[in-house]
Amino acid sequence: MANAPLSPYRFVWPLVRMMDPERAHGIAVKALEMGILPRPCIVKDDVLQVHLWDLDFPNPVGLAAGFDKDARVYDGMLAQGFGFVEVGSITPNPQPGNPKPRLFRLIDDKAIINRMGFNSEGHDASVRRLKQRNRAQGIVGVNLGKNKETEDAAADYEIGARNFGALADYMVINVSSPNTPGLRALQGPEPLRELLVRTKTALVDATKDLRTPPLLLKIAPDLTDEDKADIAQVTTEVGIDGLIVTNTTIERPDSLQSAHRGETGGLSGRPLFEASTRVLAEMHQATDGKMVLVGVGGIENAKQAYEKILAGASLVQLYSAMVYQGPGIAAAINRELAVMLKADGFTSVLDAVGQKSP
Ligand SMILES: Cc1cc2nc3c(=O)[nH]c(=O)nc-3n(C[C@H](O)[C@H](O)[C@H](O)COP(=O)(O)O)c2cc1C
Repeated sequence: MANAPLSPYRFVWPLVRMMDPERAHGIAVKALEMGILPRPCIVKDDVLQVHLWDLDFPNPVGLAAGFDKDARVYDGMLAQGFGFVEVGSITPNPQPGNPKPRLFRLIDDKAIINRMGFNSEGHDASVRRLKQRNRAQGIVGVNLGKNKETEDAAADYEIGARNFGALADYMVINVSSPNTPGLRALQGPEPLRELLVRTKTALVDATKDLRTPPLLLKIAPDLTDEDKADIAQVTTEVGIDGLIVTNTTIERPDSLQSAHRGETGGLSGRPLFEASTRVLAEMHQATDGKMVLVGVGGIENAKQAYEKILAGASLVQLYSAMVYQGPGIAAAINRELAVMLKADGFTSVLDAVGQKSP
């Protein structure tokens, strides 16, 4: 059956679903740290390779932020077949996040609600781990958040740029998580311009004698048309390198069935696919196809990954579907995506980008 747990996760899922979600996540991270997870057969195919910025992505399917918040298991996830891994969101100082429970599975809806609130070990811990990284193992992006108590938000992102500039293959400013008060207001044109200019300046300054990693902005799906037009204009004018579209939604579609549907937080997974893909197509149009877009939200299979690419994504990411299908999902999607691209006559992912925008 499509979108069902993949083998060998099929045998693990019945145990996982009985466990508290955050505990299950902790065990998964531990297992990855210990290197005891079986590895799927990795798919290598020229058609999947994406050369972007100055990076060679072996395939376009990345692990979205939020799974490896403290940069513990990026190598383990790359070994599962992801083309890149985004660690974070990382805040400058350690902070505990919101009280538990704060992570909920909506099993019947194949969705998740989280209100983690940027639980983070802080920059120092992740810097220490990333310094030990063998960069030849694969591409790792660093997603920056802000501490709950910080009033000058841009200062937290500037510090992030300085601390991770030399360590990240790409860097993300996350102003779209719904669980940090005031964060999403930074998507407004004036605060956004200041935030982007200050972060970019800090990043260029911190990496003067080195490679400056591309700087991306991650946006919410819950934006007005005016918001989206402003974001397209400001990001183009400031000259950042890409947009990640989208984070979780605070909307609750009527279709939700699960008991936890009323929990506060960001909704991700299946019910997010349509809305996030619509925003992706809109941002592709609003930036005249000139801004690199990373499509994320509700991807469960190769058809949906392909749909995001056709709508304008050069790369895609997922998280929630991995909870239901297991980490082999990246390899499974890549296997089928390669077939789909070739069947339509494309010789590379980048040839297909935006070929079916509305
Ligand atoms: C438990 C959980 C924690 C998340 N934490 C973060 C985070 O810290 N920073 C961030 O930018 N996105 C975070 N996200 C959002 C994901 O990166 C992604 O944008 C979103 O879940 C949509 O993708 P999906 O439907 O494939 O899960 C989190 C998502 C989940 C489910």
